Amino acid sequence: MLQWTTGNIGSRSLHAILARADLELAGVYAHGADKVGRDAAELCGWPEPTGVLATDDVEALLATGADACCYNPLWPDLDHLCRLLAAGVDVVTTAAWITGGKQSPDDRARIEEACRVGRSTIYGSGAHPGITNLVGLVLSGACERVDEIRITESVDCSTYESGATMSHMGFGRDLGTPGLEEFVRTESEVFAESAAMMADALDVTLDRLTFDVTFTPAHGDSDLGFMTIPAGTIAGVFGYHRGWVGDRNVVSVGFNWTMGQHVTPPKPLAHGHVVQVFGRPNMRTVLHCLPPHDWDEEGWMGPGMIYTAMPATNAVPYVVAAPPGIVTLKDLPVVTGRTR
Ligand SMILES: NC(=O)c1ccc[n+]([C@@H]2O[C@H](COP(=O)([O-])OP(=O)(O)OC[C@H]3O[C@@H](n4cnc5c(N)ncnc54)[C@H](OP(=O)(O)O)[C@@H]3O)[C@@H](O)[C@H]2O)c1
Repeated sequence: MLQWTTGNIGSRSLHAILARADLELAGVYAHGADKVGRDAAELCGWPEPTGVLATDDVEALLATGADACCYNPLWPDLDHLCRLLAAGVDVVTTAAWITGGKQSPDDRARIEEACRVGRSTIYGSGAHPGITNLVGLVLSGACERVDEIRITESVDCSTYESGATMSHMGFGRDLGTPGLEEFVRTESEVFAESAAMMADALDVTLDRLTFDVTFTPAHGDSDLGFMTIPAGTIAGVFGYHRGWVGDRNVVSVGFNWTMGQHVTPPKPLAHGHVVQVFGRPNMRTVLHCLPPHDWDEEGWMGPGMIYTAMPATNAVPYVVAAPPGIVTLKDLPVVTGRTR
């Protein structure tokens, strides 16, 4: 196994790889020079040294002959992905990939060609998108008729310490920023991929995908440590990527996000992932990710990062067994965790 970067999510994935008897760590890719040469254990809080040192030498990582890679960089790099896949390394990723639908036709074709050359597979998942889409599809199985599957991440994001990600979603920016809606649409387009994937699983052909968003300004200053949200700038982002058949909105994937205490979102927060199926009957559940009884880390960010990492990391054996190409959760058996 390779672990590609060890940030918020990658470090949780790395920890899980070391904990699993059926996965063997062969290498760790480091984006930051400060991580090169450091033992994997140090990068994820594993108690004993592993002897596997992080590197930015892609050839050396490919030379390990690893079967699979947990790919969790902040921004995906198509060249890296293609090199991994063409070398026969199956990729599971949380990094803005569900179907590859938001890629340009040329870039998606490059990925498909790399999979063909390497007889390899790429699979994207996570919490949202990822598990939430799966739960929506499962609930739709309880309905005689499905009108819409709607999934909303309804949370205060200020425990997710990724300033770059949050700034790209509009937080801390001026409301009048030109092109902001389109900017947020493209930054969050992986949700549109997951909406299209759900439609595909429902055997529905979408006419079009749309995006709508409401920005809410902060009514006071917030200093979150890793970023600030000054009063008057954006502290609430409420939007959906929607898939349509004619005038019917059949799939919606979106977010009701706030950051900091000084904002009143358009809808009260549910503090979880709200999964709704409208139809006959209506189905609804809220997924809450909570710390376990033995949680010994400071703060509550960790459980959410594990929740985001594991749908990809746990999928490794299933993806290794899958046929080459781009696969989605609709193509895999139900991915489960492991007891120990
Ligand atoms: N599906 C979901 O539910 C979900 C939820 C949240 C996030 N995500 C996605 O998961 C991925 C990882 O998120 P994260 O919170 O773990 O991110 P992060 O901690 O902010 O960054 C991950 C790692 O990316 C590397 N990195 C930093 N700057 C970079 C740059 N400019 N270009 C390329 N790599 C860079 C660093 O690697 P080193 O550690 O090696 O220096 C960093 O640790 C992101 O693509 C994010 O959008 C998915």
